[in-house]
Amino acid sequence: MTLKIYKLMKNLNEKVVLVTGASKGLGASIAKCVANNGARVALNYLKDHSKAAQVVSEIEKKGGMVKSYAYDITEETAVIKMVEGIERDFGEIDVIVNNATGPQHMIKLENQIWDDYLGQLDFFVKAPLLLLKANLDKMKQRRAGRIINIGSEVVELGSKEFGHYVAAKGAMLALTRSWATELGPFGITCNLVAPGWIPVERHLGTSEEDYNLYKANLPLGHQGSPDDIGQVVAFLASESSKFITGQKIAVNGGKTFL
Ligand SMILES: NC(=O)c1ccc[n+]([C@@H]2O[C@H](COP(=O)([O-])OP(=O)(O)OC[C@H]3O[C@@H](n4cnc5c(N)ncnc54)[C@H](OP(=O)(O)O)[C@@H]3O)[C@@H](O)[C@H]2O)c1
Repeated sequence: MTLKIYKLMKNLNEKVVLVTGASKGLGASIAKCVANNGARVALNYLKDHSKAAQVVSEIEKKGGMVKSYAYDITEETAVIKMVEGIERDFGEIDVIVNNATGPQHMIKLENQIWDDYLGQLDFFVKAPLLLLKANLDKMKQRRAGRIINIGSEVVELGSKEFGHYVAAKGAMLALTRSWATELGPFGITCNLVAPGWIPVERHLGTSEEDYNLYKANLPLGHQGSPDDIGQVVAFLASESSKFITGQKIAVNGGKTFL
């Protein structure tokens, strides 16, 4: 009987995991992976109710625990309301996955303005800060908590006409390391997963030529899938990663080092 119960326990064992921007793309896969590992998932998104409902239904069909929360994570009052809702439904949040992104337009430097940078910082610095602050006291009291930021390989590589996005992802990596230093003594870890180009819905319409060009520089010879990111996030959310903090884990088929 004990063995049976042990087998039923999954490694996230009902932990409350908030995944921002999980109606589609990498966030949807992250939500499914942590749910498959036994987490109770708070699935955040902004507008796409039907896509969010589809992810919720896929998780529920597999016996997972999930509820969706349509809130703008770049707005302080919305973040506070969302966190209150999650606590009512599931209890305090154990793991925050900062994944959501707004539009990612390429803009020639001549046409870039400061607001383009602020727009990206809203997602990759402001939203993680708002979410941390709405949970920090409780995590400190419990002496436990996980912050998992979704960064990007472009911080190492640079990307033309994309300085606004790359700069904000660089800031996200910097805050990951600083927060890890400050939060470590309270048992809270903070890490960053840096995906390479992982095709998702918003890449529909990309030319075969562009895919081939990118793949040509990948040591592993093929692009990753959203599930590759989800699995690493599930690991970082689990007890198995308890001695890892302040780290960037590139999940990009090895491109970083070319
Ligand atoms: N895919 C890649 O190749 C790749 C590579 C490197 C890094 N990344 C990073 O991985 C993360 C996910 O990227 P993705 O490609 O999967 O993105 P995506 O498919 O475009 O999904 C974006 C998600 O963010 C949500 N969202 C947008 N604005 C929001 C707001 N204000 N509040 C709450 N949610 C909001 C969207 O919800 P609605 O649909 O409801 O608006 C959607 O669920 C991003 O941080 C991105 O920078 C992706």
